[in-house]
Amino acid sequence: MIVINNVTKRYGDTPVVDNVSLALPPRGVTALIGPNGAGKSTLLSMIARLLPMDHGQITVDGMDVVETASDRLARRLSILRQDNHVTARLTVRDLVSFGRYPYSKGRLTTKDNDHIERALAFLELEPFAARFLDELSGGQRQRAFVAMVLCQDTDYVLLDEPLNNLDMKHSVGMMKLLRRTADEWGKTIVLVLHDINFASCYADNIVAMRDGAVLHQGSPRAIIRPETLKDIYEVDVAVHDIEGRRIGVYF
Ligand SMILES: Nc1ncnc2c1ncn2[C@@H]1O[C@H](COP(=O)(O)OP(=O)(O)OP(=O)(O)O)[C@@H](O)[C@H]1O
Ligand SMILES: [Mg+2]
Repeated sequence: MIVINNVTKRYGDTPVVDNVSLALPPRGVTALIGPNGAGKSTLLSMIARLLPMDHGQITVDGMDVVETASDRLARRLSILRQDNHVTARLTVRDLVSFGRYPYSKGRLTTKDNDHIERALAFLELEPFAARFLDELSGGQRQRAFVAMVLCQDTDYVLLDEPLNNLDMKHSVGMMKLLRRTADEWGKTIVLVLHDINFASCYADNIVAMRDGAVLHQGSPRAIIRPETLKDIYEVDVAVHDIEGRRIGVYF
């Protein structure tokens, strides 16, 4: 379980995450939604200790993220950032193999190589494995970063907008894959999504942020409602039940 207790992050005098307390249940898929600037990435970065908090505490299975040794935390929790820049000229396989670093420290074992091959296959990256990252399309590169994160094989996987740059087929493929990763491998997936319908169809739990605060939290049925969505996004959304799913339509 990830427990966030009274966490605040300020830039100058402005709180961008404002005294947030939240418990994210183990296993399953939690979607973090909310408008631009709501504080989603800031919160995710603090959970993964990429960003210091000004106040509060975050624990992952009881481990205080600020106190825990980096390699220990990196074997329990991985993160895909919203913006990924790599300056070195790396192949897809090189990048994916970085996911094994917390285990191998650079000396890959047979088991590490098995994880790398499995992640490449899972993300349909085998045809691109030897290609350099700057020779890929945006969506192919995004899949390579997700493969690196899954290769880290942690109980907790945080993904900030994993659908960035993905086409329709690969977005659906990515959501199915993450759902399977949660169901079959018992992982806890927390992902930032802008598509409310993917959140509705694939998440167990939705957390909606706005202005640095958690505004709503609950099942897709509780969140994907016109009043709630208006409250979160200030947009009129018509909600329909289609094949047992709750689907929001807006234009
Ligand atoms: N280094 C910084 N200095 C000042 N303000 C910052 C800094 N980084 C982020 N912010 C502000 O913090 C707020 C929250 O940013 P954050 O990136 O967490 O939003 P988000 O919910 O992830 O939005 P998006 O959907 O656009 O990715 C924004 O208003 C942003 O401008
Ligand atoms: Mg963000």
